[in-house]
Amino acid sequence: EKIEDFRRTLLAWYDEEGRASLPWRKNQDPYRVWVSEIMLQQTQVNTVIPYFKRFMTLFPTITALADAEEQTLLKAWEGLGYYSRVRNMQKAAQQVVEDYQGVWPTTFEGLKKLTGIGPYTAAAIASIAFKEPVAAIDGNAYRVLGRLFKIEDDIRQTKTWQKYFAIGNQLIDPKRPGDFNQAIMDLGSSYMTAKNYDTAHNPIKEFIASYEDGTEDLYPVKSPL
Ligand code: ADE
Repeated sequence: EKIEDFRRTLLAWYDEEGRASLPWRKNQDPYRVWVSEIMLQQTQVNTVIPYFKRFMTLFPTITALADAEEQTLLKAWEGLGYYSRVRNMQKAAQQVVEDYQGVWPTTFEGLKKLTGIGPYTAAAIASIAFKEPVAAIDGNAYRVLGRLFKIEDDIRQTKTWQKYFAIGNQLIDPKRPGDFNQAIMDLGSSYMTAKNYDTAHNPIKEFIASYEDGTEDLYPVKSPL
C-alpha cells in the first residue's frame, strides 16, 4: 500500500542519512527532547548544539531545572534570546516536580497543559519520548507535506494548521512516530528547504505530487503580507 511504502522509504532514508548524531537524539528522555525542542524553536541547529550540551551539564534533570537560580538559568540562555522560553521552561519544570511528583505527562493532551508547551512541542515530546503517533507540525512539516500533497491552504491562516495536523496524523508511522517526525525535520532542512529544493535527488521524490508537474516552488502556499 502507498502509505506504507511512503513510511518505509522515508524511514529507510532516515536510518541511513538522518542526523542521528545530534546530541538530543542520543536517547528518548522527555527532558532532553523538551529542552532541545524549545531551543530549536527560534534558533538554528548548529547554534543550539553547544547550548544544549552545556544546559544538560548545568541542569541534568528536571528537578535541577526547577530548583535553579534565575541568574544561573538566564546566564545559560545568554545568546539564545527570547528569554521567556527559559522562564516558561522553569515554570513547567516546577509544575512537573510539584503537581505531578516529578513524573511527566505521557500524552499529547497532557503535555499541552504545561507552561510554554504548545501543540508542536507537545507532539514532538509525545512522539519521540512516548511513541504517541501525533504529527509535529513546524515550518519543516509545512514544506514537506505542502509539496507532497500540493496542499492549497494558506499557511498564514491559523486554521490551516489543523489541516496539516490531520494529514500528518494519517501519514505518521504508528510504529516509529518519533523517528517519522524527525525524518520530516531532516528532509525539511536538506532536500526540502524554503529556497532550495533538489527533488531530483530527494529520497521520497516518487511520492511528491508537486514534483510531477514541477510546482514545488508554489508550496506551501503562503499569502503575501
Ligand atoms: N528542529 C526542531 N526539532 C528538531 C529535532 N528534533 N531535530 C532536528 N531539527 C529540529
